[in-house]
Amino acid sequence: MTVLVTGGAGYIGSHMVWELLDAGETVVVLDRLSTGFEWAVAPEAKLVLGDVADRDLVGRIIRDNNVDAIIHFAGSIVVPESVADPLGYYENNTCKTRTLIETAVREGVPHFIFSSTAAVYGGAGLEPVREDARLAPESPYGLSKLMSEWMLRDAGLAHDIRYTALRYFNVAGADPKGRTGQSTPGATHLIKVACETALGKRPFMQVFGTDYPTPDGTCMRDYIHVSDLAAAHRLALQRLRAGGKSLVANCGYSHGYSVLEVIDSVRRAFGHDFDVRMGDRRPGDAAAVVANSELARMELGWTPQRDDLDLIVNDALAWERILTTKNSVRN
Ligand code: UFG
Repeated sequence: MTVLVTGGAGYIGSHMVWELLDAGETVVVLDRLSTGFEWAVAPEAKLVLGDVADRDLVGRIIRDNNVDAIIHFAGSIVVPESVADPLGYYENNTCKTRTLIETAVREGVPHFIFSSTAAVYGGAGLEPVREDARLAPESPYGLSKLMSEWMLRDAGLAHDIRYTALRYFNVAGADPKGRTGQSTPGATHLIKVACETALGKRPFMQVFGTDYPTPDGTCMRDYIHVSDLAAAHRLALQRLRAGGKSLVANCGYSHGYSVLEVIDSVRRAFGHDFDVRMGDRRPGDAAAVVANSELARMELGWTPQRDDLDLIVNDALAWERILTTKNSVRN
């Protein structure tokens, strides 16, 4: 049995590939390398260059490798970009996912794990959000993912395919063994931006808004270590293979940190101060987005191992240093 990981050359996908290989699985990666990197794919995994909507190619991969599960990461993930190019996002995230599900059904793949997002909820409050909260995506990105969840639900009712959709909160950090990490240039994610600033790759960074209704006035998010997220997928795979029913579950730690707390953690990890400027709110940011993750813990038996902001930041900073070396060797 083989696991097909789409987007396995990207940030979360490349961690997933290591997680599966470490657990003794056989892995095929399908990636068109639009934002991922060939070097990010573990050498023990087979890498196929191509598109998830290429029915013939995906069908051949499934048959040739005896694929029994697809873990689907490939997609576009930048919220403001989705506002500027909604149709591009619906094409890349929703239409291509539809084709991939159709191919999975046609080829008789029984298990499907899907990368969903907290962006399906829209603005949440300080209270941890449960899976049955109101679904009100505020961006084409969030809606493109929610539509994919719904297609999976309906396909699961009509066909012999069971799925798990995991709604990620703020994924951060890097492989503790330093094998992969967040590598795409021009990142907008807070922990990555702060680490780049600490290492002098950016002259300064900004805090987007200091007047939110939160304890210190800056936005709060539920930062989850990418390795814990990969572990949740592995457990979801085990559960589906054992006959578990389809499931939609949040992946977060159930507590939030403010932007200023994150920056303080990066200062501690780096050991020096760096230039942080207070700025205006970024359009579209919710004051707080925190997961209720009871369901994932109960249903998947998921016990996070790295639920510690300093640990997440330390791994992110270590990866940023490795990336500096990799890039200077390449240049
Ligand atoms: N922030 C700053 N300065 C920066 C970057 C970010 O102050 O330079 C702040 C943001 O304003 C926000 C917080 O840090 O309050 C986190 O921002 P990120 O960009 O790291 O992450 P988001 O919460 O905006 O987005 C994340 C995922 C999305 C997902 C969304 C769902 O990256 O893919 O959560 O809630 F859609």
